[in-house]
Amino acid sequence: MNLTLKIWRQKDARSKGQMVDYKVTEISEHMSFLEMMDVLNEQLINKGEEPVSFDHDCREGICGSCSMFINGEAHGPDRRVTTCQLHMRMFHDGETITIEPWRATAFPVIKDLIVDRSAFDRIQHAGGYISVNTSGNTQDANAIPISKQAADTAMDAATCIGCGACVASCKNSSAMLFVGAKVSQYALLPQGQVEAATRVKNMVAQMDLEGFGNCTNTGACEVECPKGISLDVIARMNRELMKASV
Ligand code: SF4
Ligand code: FES
Repeated sequence: MNLTLKIWRQKDARSKGQMVDYKVTEISEHMSFLEMMDVLNEQLINKGEEPVSFDHDCREGICGSCSMFINGEAHGPDRRVTTCQLHMRMFHDGETITIEPWRATAFPVIKDLIVDRSAFDRIQHAGGYISVNTSGNTQDANAIPISKQAADTAMDAATCIGCGACVASCKNSSAMLFVGAKVSQYALLPQGQVEAATRVKNMVAQMDLEGFGNCTNTGACEVECPKGISLDVIARMNRELMKASV
């Protein structure tokens, strides 16, 4: 496949960015999107040009770092996959593909397609954990019975990889799907009850402080989430917040 890529280039956080056109050739339909980007960068380096900076790590859909807005969709046109799992067979020979970084005030661009998602880390630090006694008297996990339904729903919420696609897809740049997933993961388990009230209050307060917008139930986040996190987590977060506030 031969493709035209329109890519957002931005030297650093302070510089003005712009879309730049590139031609990339000899792309196999079996390549992943990131492998296609690797080929482009090899071609750019061979020509003595600056390669395109983009985030990646696991390339297995686990780490959540490969954030790219492709043809107007977070992680591109396929469903329930991250950019590293997106295959070039989703595109056609001769196609023009537009590639941009996540767009949200709370995710400032660092360089080209790399954005600063440390706002998510600060929300996690505000309450996305449980305090457990690991002094040697730790209770056996099996001593606390948990219903299958609660365990499964908590596990579904825990599959959130913190990629930020929900924020990038939302017209309000809301982080509620992410925060709802983190709150739900603990709210459904007995181990999460001790700190439940402070957790939800602190995480929501930090979310607001970071400048994320509110949820207006459009549902774009749920559609674009590579892990299929359901809007139910937002409803649960709101219930937990109301419970904690009265
Ligand atoms: S909720 Fe989905 S889209 Fe949002 S950060 Fe988690 S995995 Fe990514
Ligand atoms: S590189 Fe880790 S999820 Fe894509």
